[in-house]
Amino acid sequence: MTHADYVIDQMISAKSIAARVEELATEISSHFRDTDKLVVVGLLRGSFVFIADLVRELDLPVEVDFLEASSYGSAMQSSREVRIIKDLSGEIARRDVLVVEDIVDTGFTLHHVVGLLRARGPARLEVCALLDKPSRREVDIRATWTGFEIPDEFVVGYGIDYAQRNRNLPFIGKVRFPEA
Ligand code: IMP
Ligand code: MG
Repeated sequence: MTHADYVIDQMISAKSIAARVEELATEISSHFRDTDKLVVVGLLRGSFVFIADLVRELDLPVEVDFLEASSYGSAMQSSREVRIIKDLSGEIARRDVLVVEDIVDTGFTLHHVVGLLRARGPARLEVCALLDKPSRREVDIRATWTGFEIPDEFVVGYGIDYAQRNRNLPFIGKVRFPEA
């Protein structure tokens, strides 16, 4: 796939993602098997494809809610300042909660969101991240379940964007800037 100034090389195929989503869903279903109703919280916007696939593989009663957090900064760099753009629609006090994130990079976003949600007194709160870039971590936080650990590359697809594009790619690819 080509664009004016960058190309996208496939890193994780749609088939590999589907297989991993199934495995994650099995582990999550087992962990929360005695839940009354799991509140699955998708972090917008990058997790929207992942959460759609994941909830359909969960063998649990679920409720789906969304939260949008944003860090100031340029398209390819996250910052330490995290803002809540859109809060949850429902309550999570005394509920079982699964936060679904696209990528854990520096960790600032997840750290902020988990702190905010824990303060609301959920019964249990766990995190499932599709991708993790451990080499980029600045805050000591990790997801309970991770789909794939990836190297320090800028990736797009399967919900993840570069400057609001490429979210609709069915696979995960890395962005490469060829020499001019
Ligand atoms: P953190 O706060 O640095 O962990 O940043 C996490 C957020 O930055 C993710 O939820 C993504 O929205 C964004 N992000 C981090 N790495 C990438 C990437 O490679 N491609 C697109 N977005 C990314
Ligand atoms: Mg995000």
